[in-house]
Amino acid sequence: MDATPADYDRDPSTIHIVRPQRPANATPAGSACDTFFIPMKISSITCIGAGYVGGPTMAVIADRCPHIQVTVVDANAERIAAWNNGPLPIFEPGLEAVVKRARGRNLHFSTDIDKAIANADCIFIAVNTPTKTEGEGAGKASDLRFVEACTRHIAKSARDHTLVVEKSTLPVRSAERVREVLDTAGTGKTFDVLSNPEFLAEGTAIADLENPDRVLIGCENPVAAQALVDVYAQWVPAEKILTTNVWSAEMAKLAANAMLAQRVSSINALSAFCEATGADVDEVARAIGTDSRIGGKFLKAGVGFGGSCFKKDILNLVYLCEHHGLPEVAAYWQQVVEINEWQKRRVAQTVIKNLGGTVKGKRIAVLGFAFKKDTNDTREAPSVTVCTELLAAGAELVVHDPKVSHAKILADLKDSPRAAACHYANTVADACKGADAAVVVTDWDAFRTLDWVTLAQSMQSGAWVFDARNCVDHKAVRAAGLRLWAVGKPMTS
Ligand code: UDX
Ligand code: UDX
Repeated sequence: MDATPADYDRDPSTIHIVRPQRPANATPAGSACDTFFIPMKISSITCIGAGYVGGPTMAVIADRCPHIQVTVVDANAERIAAWNNGPLPIFEPGLEAVVKRARGRNLHFSTDIDKAIANADCIFIAVNTPTKTEGEGAGKASDLRFVEACTRHIAKSARDHTLVVEKSTLPVRSAERVREVLDTAGTGKTFDVLSNPEFLAEGTAIADLENPDRVLIGCENPVAAQALVDVYAQWVPAEKILTTNVWSAEMAKLAANAMLAQRVSSINALSAFCEATGADVDEVARAIGTDSRIGGKFLKAGVGFGGSCFKKDILNLVYLCEHHGLPEVAAYWQQVVEINEWQKRRVAQTVIKNLGGTVKGKRIAVLGFAFKKDTNDTREAPSVTVCTELLAAGAELVVHDPKVSHAKILADLKDSPRAAACHYANTVADACKGADAAVVVTDWDAFRTLDWVTLAQSMQSGAWVFDARNCVDHKAVRAAGLRLWAVGKPMTS
């Protein structure tokens, strides 16, 4: 009969087995159940992938678990150098302080992937899983080649029994593939595969990690699951640590992102309806959000969702639904993405329409480029669609973002034939100088308190402000004599 974690004394001082000794009567190496009797304690963690997920997650684990040595490895040497010497490769409020506390003590960044794997009891895979661009499922399915490459690395370099944790968002049943790669390597080493999806949102990653709504751990072996539970239990209350089977954990991550994105598409769809009927989308959101069955979060109309996860994960869900013979379900989720694409284009077309039907030769300030405030991340940023459409229509753009550089913006607009007409300004004031319009694309807090009287003085007479985030002070915009369009708001409000 399988032992459960409760069968063992969990007093850390009495748990001595980290590297299990295989008893004579053990099941064959590589078998999924050959570790059931072995209590495990994690004292060293390696994470492959030092990105937006791997970096902050490992920094918080190291900070909260000084008894665990945490090493983050990445194939990108420049990224690792930045984690070691700063400035950090990603901007995330509160991250620097956490890294400073743990770096050099029990938090290490390295490019020596093999050594870090060999030294670890537990290995997190946090590499990117982009949408496939070719082959079966191109444009929808997740490309798992980085995950597979990491898994092969782990099979080769792990010392003996190792926990392999999927942190990257993966299609349901990916753990099976990871398990297969580990087992067919024929190394005789043993592994447990766990799914521990990350729910942090960029911009609030540290707060989300330090005080998560829940931690989800999917695993077939309760002893391995308990070992990972013990890590999080250092700072997360027990009732917030959920254990499930591995497929449910993988599915829950896709489902959570799909449901969140669906709320954003729902409120954005309603924003167009509000504009058409004279209702105010923020008032509608507040009214429906006070229904405790609906809840008030994630009902902010805007320019469409961006970020590395939502679109990719929904497309992946669509692909899986089609694969499993559920075309109606696939079409339902596909529509969440379609509405999002439509909302981004709708904002650009609204600018063009209100500027007399043409923006050719007109100067437009674009305020914000990151996909949301408090991050320098531009993956799937709605700004790319908005800028591309305006450039295609002949506009001269001047972008200002507090955290995104001109070089990054130009790289993101590389497919736009008129990217050279996208300039950069270090301040909002410089961006707005001589502008026919300002388009607010990212909800940076600094944009809430702009001095529109001063800005209006340097803009063209009759200039417009297009607030695609309902983030600037609308009264102040109007009082400054500027014309205003705001998403989901009646033109006269
Ligand atoms: C996220 C999530 O982890 C994942 O769930 C989602 O599917 C994609 O994006 P994130 O941390 O935001 O990952 O990605 P990114 O910032 O691109 O970091 C991934 C890192 O993995 C990069 O630094 C990359 O250099 C590294 N990597 C990738 C490797 O070290 N080895 C590889 O083989 C591939
Ligand atoms: C998301 C999930 O929230 C997180 O749990 C998962 O781990 C990764 O994907 P992230 O993409 O970092 O996180 O940010 P999120 O705050 O979810 O915002 C996603 C996009 O939706 C942003 O472009 C944001 O501006 C937009 N959004 C969000 C809205 O337009 N309105 C809202 O009400 C909420």
